[in-house]
Amino acid sequence: MKDLFDLTGKVALVTGASRGIGESIARLLAQYGAHVIVSSRKIDGCEAVASSIRDAGGKATALACHVGEMEQITQAFETIKKDFGKLDILVNNAAANPFFGHILDTDLGAYNKTVDVNIRGYFFMSIEAGKMMKEQGGGVILNTASVNGVTPGDMQGIYSITKAAVISMTKSFAKECGKLNIRVNALLPGLTDTKFASALTTNEQILNHALKVIPLGRVADPDEMAGTVLYLVSDASSYTTGTTVVVDGGMLA
Ligand SMILES: NC(=O)c1ccc[n+]([C@@H]2O[C@H](COP(=O)([O-])OP(=O)(O)OC[C@H]3O[C@@H](n4cnc5c(N)ncnc54)[C@H](OP(=O)(O)O)[C@@H]3O)[C@@H](O)[C@H]2O)c1
Repeated sequence: MKDLFDLTGKVALVTGASRGIGESIARLLAQYGAHVIVSSRKIDGCEAVASSIRDAGGKATALACHVGEMEQITQAFETIKKDFGKLDILVNNAAANPFFGHILDTDLGAYNKTVDVNIRGYFFMSIEAGKMMKEQGGGVILNTASVNGVTPGDMQGIYSITKAAVISMTKSFAKECGKLNIRVNALLPGLTDTKFASALTTNEQILNHALKVIPLGRVADPDEMAGTVLYLVSDASSYTTGTTVVVDGGMLA
């Protein structure tokens, strides 16, 4: 019987894959047979993850790309075309959240950084990947959004706004790219134990407040996000596009 989750022969680019949720996604996609391009700003962290995937018998390559810098996006896709000649899966996962505070105190620097990485970065990565996928007859894009894109997080105004944009972006690309055999979906993680969330998870008062509204009563491990991504990028979800999957321990409920 065909394994619906098998990714053998697929090339998958995962941004923000040097740690946290992206690292867990990269490791699982490699376990299921994909050649994973492990990407983030700093090549050393990517190489560490890629080499440990290779040590475990998987296929992985490191690629540095700051998704808030347009030239680096162009350069990354030139490298992928040259080295692989195709891209089957894009996981837009790297995001920025430089400002934690009252929305009225948001300055232009924090606004620009958050929008440039979380909206412009996801958007042009999707365009570059979409053009390659169109030429090769199809592909899959997965965007890591957030539950904050549905219900804004306290003191995380501009970040939440960009995550709502990612949900809208997911639907727009799905609608216009469906006939090109390109599926586009979003993962909406809840509170997950990573460096990104450490401002929340290491503050006992904030953490206790957060746990009160999470029915499972605990923070997620990054590995608990990866299974949903595997489902959404594999043939197991071949008729699913333009949708979001919430993985939040029941918080939005
Ligand atoms: N953790 C949570 O509670 C939570 C909840 C909801 C949604 N999310 C979402 O999950 C995704 C991953 O977050 P995480 O919690 O796994 O964070 P994390 O552990 O801090 O990892 C962030 C990753 O992104 C890379 N990165 C940061 N800025 C980048 C940029 N401009 N260009 C390219 N790579 C960049 C980092 O590596 P370098 O430093 O080398 O660039 C790292 O690999 C994000 O989209 C986040 O919004 C997280």
